[in-house]
Amino acid sequence: MENPARRPIVAGNWKMNGSRPLVDLMQNQLEHADLEHLDVVICPPLPYLGLFKSSVTLGAQNMSHFESGAHTGEVSGSILKEFGCSYVIVGHSERRADNHESNANVALKVAAALNMKLTPILCVGESGSVRDSGKLFTFMAGQIDAVIKQVGIAQFSNIVLAYEPIWAIGTGKTASPAQAQEVHQFLRGHLAKQDPNIAANIKIVYGGSVKGSNAKELFSQKDVDGGLIGGASLDPKDFLSICLAAKQ
Ligand code: 13P
Repeated sequence: MENPARRPIVAGNWKMNGSRPLVDLMQNQLEHADLEHLDVVICPPLPYLGLFKSSVTLGAQNMSHFESGAHTGEVSGSILKEFGCSYVIVGHSERRADNHESNANVALKVAAALNMKLTPILCVGESGSVRDSGKLFTFMAGQIDAVIKQVGIAQFSNIVLAYEPIWAIGTGKTASPAQAQEVHQFLRGHLAKQDPNIAANIKIVYGGSVKGSNAKELFSQKDVDGGLIGGASLDPKDFLSICLAAKQ
């Protein structure tokens, strides 16, 4: 019997890509697809948020931990809500690298998102060198523990976790289903030490070179509840086939 709390979710992270025509194409495609029994989220660059119709569930790719004020170039949770967002990606490895976001910064953003009733898609994941060093699980625990320390374990019932190994992002080098399952199981087990119920019900999605051709095998792993899709989310056909692979 499937756990209804873990209804699959597929989110498309467009990163700094997209166009008005792609908004229309994606909108059209999602409107006409049978996407019952799963959640599909599009996370486009900010200006495109306002172009989607309300039938599409939207997420942002980042937000400020400040509520408002003199923070040039930033966007607040309340503005994201006004533009129809229900989700926000927090702690993506590209932001951790490009914008020097620390575990503590990420934790503050998760807290700010939760405060605004936005669902954070909290990204964690190791570089190839961390994996090679044998410190994979210590590293992953550190990323999670910073957020637990900030918001408390109970709030993880309002969080989607995304495991995105950096070495698999945009490289075409997908984690094998067994590698993904191993880390997802670790993450669930790590949360279970604090609250078994929260751990059993949290959605943990995989991201890193997911395509229509490998999605089914990844999503069929016991602890994988869907995907966070980069490159393939820019191709409406491929994205749809990934979404369909996640259907229960
Ligand atoms: P790719 O699917 O392009 O590897 O990107 C994954 C990702 O970073 C999604 O957030």
